[in-house]
Amino acid sequence: MRRRKLVAGNWKMNGNLASLAALDAIAKAGGGDVGVAMALPATLIAAAVARVPLLPIGAEDVAAADSGAFTGCVSAAMVKEAGGRFSIVGHSERRAHQHESDADVRGKAEALHRHGLWAILCVGETLAERNSGRAEAVVTAQVAASLPDGAAADWLCIAYEPVWAIGTGRTASAADVAAMHAAIRAQLRKAIGDEAEAMRILYGGSVNAENAAELLHASDVDGALVGGASLTAAKFLPIVAAAAA
Ligand code: PGA
Repeated sequence: MRRRKLVAGNWKMNGNLASLAALDAIAKAGGGDVGVAMALPATLIAAAVARVPLLPIGAEDVAAADSGAFTGCVSAAMVKEAGGRFSIVGHSERRAHQHESDADVRGKAEALHRHGLWAILCVGETLAERNSGRAEAVVTAQVAASLPDGAAADWLCIAYEPVWAIGTGRTASAADVAAMHAAIRAQLRKAIGDEAEAMRILYGGSVNAENAAELLHASDVDGALVGGASLTAAKFLPIVAAAAA
């Protein structure tokens, strides 16, 4: 099945109002066979949406609850009101630093769906898990346990991000990525049947202009989730071009 590629950026805790200027050029990229989207710090979402209304802007995380006594959290409804269209959930930095479990991640994805937003759900193994030969088991277990109710390709994509490749300049080999994406798709097939064929599986972890072409055209790779290289148009646009090529 032909799946439209998605190149999504993730600014993490970087950027300010002035940096939104980078989005002017990014908003003009994509189209045709490649979609482009940008996940931003919550404080920048509304300003970004006002500046580049055609570029899908999202959050980097949302709460599972819609409202309540959760100091510091931002709900899917709040992201939606700010003009956001999606959120990342389950990024490894949140799984590690905020101790988010698969059940938490699942709840966050379901909250997005309740509010008509789409989700990028991240999974990935640590270096110790890879070195001990458990990478596939760990990642497919994460997919099984964090997959939300009603998971469907029109509102959910998976991002495979090996923890050891994030922000390190190291990437998995195209062959390892293809093998993991095939394992993830097999796990999805068990959970949601034929719908798995339409669901996009992105790769993330030190994607840049040099390695994007090889990674993005590995089998079963339907796009990229890009951290550091999403902060400037000069670094991000070649990745979008590589996806389109
Ligand atoms: P990186 O981050 O591209 O800077 O490695 C990827 C991510 O964390 O999504």
